[in-house]
Amino acid sequence: MSQIKACLFDLDGVLVDTAKYHFLAWKRLADELHIKFTKEDNERLKGVSRMRSLDIILEIGQIHFDSETKLKLAAKKNNWYVDFIKELTPDEILPGSEEFLKSAKANNFKLALGSASKNSMLILNKLNLVDYFDAIIDGTKVSKAKPDPEVFLRGAEELKVNPKQCVVFEDAEAGVEAAINADMYCVGIGSPQILKKANMVISGLHEMNLNKLNLLK
Ligand code: BG6
Ligand code: MG
Repeated sequence: MSQIKACLFDLDGVLVDTAKYHFLAWKRLADELHIKFTKEDNERLKGVSRMRSLDIILEIGQIHFDSETKLKLAAKKNNWYVDFIKELTPDEILPGSEEFLKSAKANNFKLALGSASKNSMLILNKLNLVDYFDAIIDGTKVSKAKPDPEVFLRGAEELKVNPKQCVVFEDAEAGVEAAINADMYCVGIGSPQILKKANMVISGLHEMNLNKLNLLK
């Protein structure tokens, strides 16, 4: 079965480049903890939950904390991150993303967000993108992190579309796997070497159009 009826979008790295703000906030925390944390290390945090991101940073620094301390550190990082996010403007929507959302909506595709971020609503509001979505599934609604398919399956369920007729747009390897685990098509956004399990890889939504959806198989 093909005939795509719904498009599900990851947020960070697909619709908006928030990785730089995650990096600045994690870097500030790492500096406080005297952990050397580089932009290369930051790549490992893409698509990964907030608490797992903290664990990766603590692993790099070989530091152990109890769970209460870890929750406080994650909250501290998030406050700094939110300070950046509050200043987001629609100018920071990644090229071609809004145009693609607009044309998919105009052509009666169902649209959903499928993101791990608990800040999704704040970000979508700042970018003025909320109204494009028929369903918004984010980190406040799911318990299992990508590559678990929960976030995308819940999206398909809310849209009332068969997963086999859904396509996911994802920039993270774990997200591509989540889409495959949900039995959905996947368009990778980024490097074909990293996102090799995706059905198609493009460098950004500016390269996407509705005709290309018919090429998915
Ligand atoms: C994902 C990002 O979308 O959301 C990750 O790619 C981030 O880097 C995760 O850790 C959780 O985000 P937040 O906003 O809830 O800390
Ligand atoms: Mg992402």
